[in-house]
Amino acid sequence: MESGGGKMTAQLMLAVGGAVLGSLQFGYNTGVINAPQKVIEEFYNYTWYNRYGEYISRGTLTTLWSLSVSIFSVGGMIGSFSVGLFVNRFGRRNSMLMSNSLAFLAAALMGFSKIASSFEMLVLGRFVIGVYSGLTTGFVPMYVGEVSPTSLRGALGTLHQLGIVVGILIAQVFGMDLIMGSDSLWPLLLGFIFVPALAQCILLPFAPESPRFLLINRNEENKAKSVLKKLRGTTDVSSDLQEMKEESRQMMQEKKVTIPELFRSPMYRQPILIAVILQLSQQLSGINAVFYYSTSIFEKSGVQQPVYATIGSGVVNTAFTVVSLFVVERAGRRTLHLVGLAGMAGCAVLMTIALALLEQMAWMSYLSIIAIFGFVAFFEIGPGPIPWFIVAELFSQGPRPAAFAVAGLSNWTSNFIVGMSFQYIEEVCGPYVFIIFMVLLILFFIFTYFKVPETKGRTFDEIASGFRQGGGGQSDNKTPDEFHSLGADSQV
Ligand SMILES: *[C@@H]1O[C@H](CO)[C@@H](O)[C@H](O)[C@H]1NC(C)=O
Repeated sequence: MESGGGKMTAQLMLAVGGAVLGSLQFGYNTGVINAPQKVIEEFYNYTWYNRYGEYISRGTLTTLWSLSVSIFSVGGMIGSFSVGLFVNRFGRRNSMLMSNSLAFLAAALMGFSKIASSFEMLVLGRFVIGVYSGLTTGFVPMYVGEVSPTSLRGALGTLHQLGIVVGILIAQVFGMDLIMGSDSLWPLLLGFIFVPALAQCILLPFAPESPRFLLINRNEENKAKSVLKKLRGTTDVSSDLQEMKEESRQMMQEKKVTIPELFRSPMYRQPILIAVILQLSQQLSGINAVFYYSTSIFEKSGVQQPVYATIGSGVVNTAFTVVSLFVVERAGRRTLHLVGLAGMAGCAVLMTIALALLEQMAWMSYLSIIAIFGFVAFFEIGPGPIPWFIVAELFSQGPRPAAFAVAGLSNWTSNFIVGMSFQYIEEVCGPYVFIIFMVLLILFFIFTYFKVPETKGRTFDEIASGFRQGGGGQSDNKTPDEFHSLGADSQV
């Protein structure tokens, strides 16, 4: 009998490649408003002047810019909550295709905002692409997981995460003054998102619908079979079909848990608390203060070419995402999270020192570059990937969808809080703004140390019995684990 096999066929490449364009899109829009902040703020100021006959006040500009940055997360919240409405009705591939209408709409709104002298269009465009991104973080991991053979599922699943960080990096490079970050070209920089959207609309119609959707949701076994044959490049796909049927049978056995039940049942209360706090630890670590505002942060720390430092942080981010893809499979989740949080806290201290002593010593600007690079690197080791792993590993099939919805909501909400408030806090605290992140990071470290159990290589029963004995604590991980990437959106 064939063992399912793990061949990289052309169909599989097309499917995964087409889907991952969505991850790139999400990353691109996370990073794109960083470098051109100044030129777009000038546009706001200028537009304001033309409309109202006076220059925009500092305070209004801060509000307007923070809103333009962070309304993305409000869209993300709505999108991530709506994933379920689409995937089971229209299928995974068609949902992705449909969501591109949002990307085109956002591209038009943002790309033409300057010609129309309307910052409202830009803000609205950021919201719309946020909805798209929230949907994507659900669609892509699900589709990629369902078209991939078991043996390649883990490896291909990581492409979603890589797509996001590469997207951030591309946006940072394109945001350079001499590429598209200039006074005249920034509308093109923001509107550029129509390119990946168009590419996806061209590629995905040739990619198959998820065989799992066809078989389980639609009960079309023959279609599922023919799709699987193309994806696997073999004629015998019975083991794949068998596996899917088995999995769905197990899912039926376990009752679906609703969100209120998650909080009411004593069995889930502690795990869901842990899942939520770990999501908060990811966002309130301050990582998106860096991804959204690093150019302005570097400028305030006396860096001569802040945009290059921002690009540098994107390179470090990508490199350490690759490192973490290898490390996460081997090391314990809890340990990695603790190391990441501690490292980030240390870098926050360095950053504070660098900002505080900048007046006295000009070379402190280099220290701030090192601090931010370290901050990003440690993020990708722990708080970036780990919170999603832990949600997947704390909850079995029944409560998992509800747990992911709650985790996603906490993630986008705290993302919004940081994006919206960072500039205000910075105005109040000056060089000591990173102290706030340091304090939060230490609190999350303490929580993780005392409350979060190791989940790697442990069954749900083992983890649950750990909770009953009180506290998380450590345990040896003995068995090689399975990669739970399904449904895991990523970081930022
Ligand atoms: C708006 O533009 C004017 C003229 O360039 C400038 O003097 C003013 O400082 C700007 N306002 C803000 C808040 O940047």
